[in-house]
Amino acid sequence: MITRRSAAEIATMRRAGRIVAEVLGLIEEELRPGVSTSHLDRIAEEHIRRAGGTPSFKGYYGYPSSLCISIDREVVHGIPGDRTIADGQVVSIDAGAIIDGYHGDAARTFIVGDAPLEVRELVATTRRALEAGIAAAIPGNRIWDISAAVEDVALPRGYGVVRPYVGHGIGTAMHEDPQVPNYRTKTKGIELAPGICLAIEPMFTLGNADVETLADGWTVVTRDGSVAAHFEDSVAVTDDGPEVLTRL
Ligand code: MF3
Ligand code: CO
Repeated sequence: MITRRSAAEIATMRRAGRIVAEVLGLIEEELRPGVSTSHLDRIAEEHIRRAGGTPSFKGYYGYPSSLCISIDREVVHGIPGDRTIADGQVVSIDAGAIIDGYHGDAARTFIVGDAPLEVRELVATTRRALEAGIAAAIPGNRIWDISAAVEDVALPRGYGVVRPYVGHGIGTAMHEDPQVPNYRTKTKGIELAPGICLAIEPMFTLGNADVETLADGWTVVTRDGSVAAHFEDSVAVTDDGPEVLTRL
């Protein structure tokens, strides 16, 4: 079922989105060689709770943390823990919060220190694909238009486009209908209308798109070990165009 959110609901989602954006900004500031991923997770949880929110990932199908921290070949759902960040790593931070029953969900990939040009280009291109997807989130378009816009940024560069994980509707649940694939599908999906809220989240890899889940039951990695990047924003479709809810 697709739910169209009222102006009042979107106002609440804007508050949830702001907290998620603040978390990502805080983590970016803390991200440096030697910092532990559990420390980053603690900062995120404290900020969300101080703001009157709830970390949406914690306890979701038993997920243990407030952030997902996915490093290098890890695509999504890396679990914070004793691991420390090292120079040159590609670190994807995914954060989610609930405020007054409404969700915000967003992710950014950061490069710690320096990385080879091809890695920097992967990260910049994945970010650009998110922008292209957001720009297609307008009334009258279909889900397929978002998918095509995202895929078209990856294809000329030969990046892997991860397929088993997709964007999603968002609102009173983190994951709602519809799915938002990062690649063209056979069907065009629903027509976008004002009030529809979506999390758009391209995941690209430098190599093959095949992924597997590690023995921890969560961490999704590229099978070929290639580096991955992930950007996500929660977006409301409006008459005036897409409104990104998860930026400051
Ligand atoms: N942000 C992720 C998504 O878009 C959710 C993290 S999965 C969790 O689907 F289980 F860790 F919550
Ligand atoms: Co998401």
